[in-house]
Amino acid sequence: MTGAARNFFILALIYAICGMLLGLAMAIRQDHTQMPVHAHAMVAGWLMSGFFAFFYHFFPEIGRSRLAMIHFWLTAASGVVMLVSLFFVLSGNIAIEPVTAISSILFFLAILLFTWIALPVLRRTA
Ligand code: HEM
Ligand code: HEM
Repeated sequence: MTGAARNFFILALIYAICGMLLGLAMAIRQDHTQMPVHAHAMVAGWLMSGFFAFFYHFFPEIGRSRLAMIHFWLTAASGVVMLVSLFFVLSGNIAIEPVTAISSILFFLAILLFTWIALPVLRRTA
């Protein structure tokens, strides 16, 4: 794996480890307050980053492009800030909520960028 594929795969593994550790902590402490953080770390983090990794692995020339790298850094930075800030919001630090809101919007913009990057694949015949 190279380029954006490699970066996304590493990011996916980090999400899986952190997300499952949080899930275990929730289960052990019988406190599910952080369930939305765990759910998004697992699905929007581990599964989505894994999906992007294999997409860029199947289309390596797209994965090496500058746009794919911008997609990676926008997704990684906004996703991590979104989940860490959400963790604090759910712990009672409501003041940090605007950070969660802005990073969520950036995370959404990243999927729009991916849509733009991935569209040429639809025009391929083989
Ligand atoms: C070490 C492994 C894991 C542990 C200990 C764990 C633990 C938990 C716990 C305690 C909850 C809260 C349940 C509730 O309050 O209703 C939960 C919810 C959830 N988990 Fe995990 N989990 C693990 C792995 C995973 C994995 C691998 C995924 C997905 C790839 C995942 C996705 C979810 C989702 C989407 C929810 C929210 C479900 C809902 O909306 O009701 N979890 N998990
Ligand atoms: C802009 C980004 C996103 C925002 C602002 C967002 C927001 C939300 C909100 C407000 C909930 C309800 C939480 C609750 O009732 O406790 C939720 C639930 C959920 N979302 Fe997202 N979401 C986003 C992206 C995603 C993505 C990309 C995925 C998966 C690929 C995802 C998967 C889920 C799942 C599995 C649940 C149910 C588990 C739970 O209740 O926490 N979300 N989301």
